[in-house]
Amino acid sequence: MSPDLDKEDESPNLREVFYMNETISTLLSRRSIRNYTAEQVSDENLKAILEAAVYAPSAVNQQSWHFTVIQNKEVLDNMAADLKDSFKKSNNPRFQQLGTNENFSPFHRAPTVIVISGDEKAVAPEADCAAAAQNILLAAESLGLGACWVNMTIFLLNSEKGALWKKNLGIPEGYKPLYSITLGNKGTANPKAAPRKENSINYIK
Ligand SMILES: Cc1cc2nc3c(=O)[nH]c(=O)nc-3n(C[C@H](O)[C@H](O)[C@H](O)COP(=O)(O)O)c2cc1C
Repeated sequence: MSPDLDKEDESPNLREVFYMNETISTLLSRRSIRNYTAEQVSDENLKAILEAAVYAPSAVNQQSWHFTVIQNKEVLDNMAADLKDSFKKSNNPRFQQLGTNENFSPFHRAPTVIVISGDEKAVAPEADCAAAAQNILLAAESLGLGACWVNMTIFLLNSEKGALWKKNLGIPEGYKPLYSITLGNKGTANPKAAPRKENSINYIK
């Protein structure tokens, strides 16, 4: 898949790298997908994606992550409903509005949601789990699947009902839910990437 870039603006050398290197091409093409078909992700693809996740770097190689793969529609629907309820009770007007919006689906109606929790005693659980999350997004794109990093899930897991959900989802004691990823077959083409911010790189040679 060719990256979603304005090729005319790129130097010939850079263009060559995009097309010759599959990994760079995948990471440039990846976009947050918020529209999925009802078809479930195959077990084979799911396994490959989780294998990619556990090969992320981690501080002192502590591999401080834990993954909860949720594919039960009833569970996902109940989580989405509780999440919207907790939004309604929030002091944040934007969250309140999302909580009452009938069309809003926090998990984008994805057939799979992966919650990533970090070992609270580890050196850098946030960084370890973020690296694993990015591996999941890239592995999904490389397999032609859609994925989106959805942190709203964590709002639920840290809300009043959070302790019960953590128990029901079997999140191990001492692990804190940090991120979640929606995953599924794409119901839409990758949107165009937003322009990149300028002046974010400084070279010292
Ligand atoms: C920490 C983090 C939290 C995010 N939370 C959400 C979320 O709750 N819902 C959502 O639809 N997208 C979420 N996103 C996706 C971003 O909106 C998206 O990455 C950004 O708009 C850039 O678009 P792209 O991923 O297509 O390049 C999150 C991304 C990150 C890194």
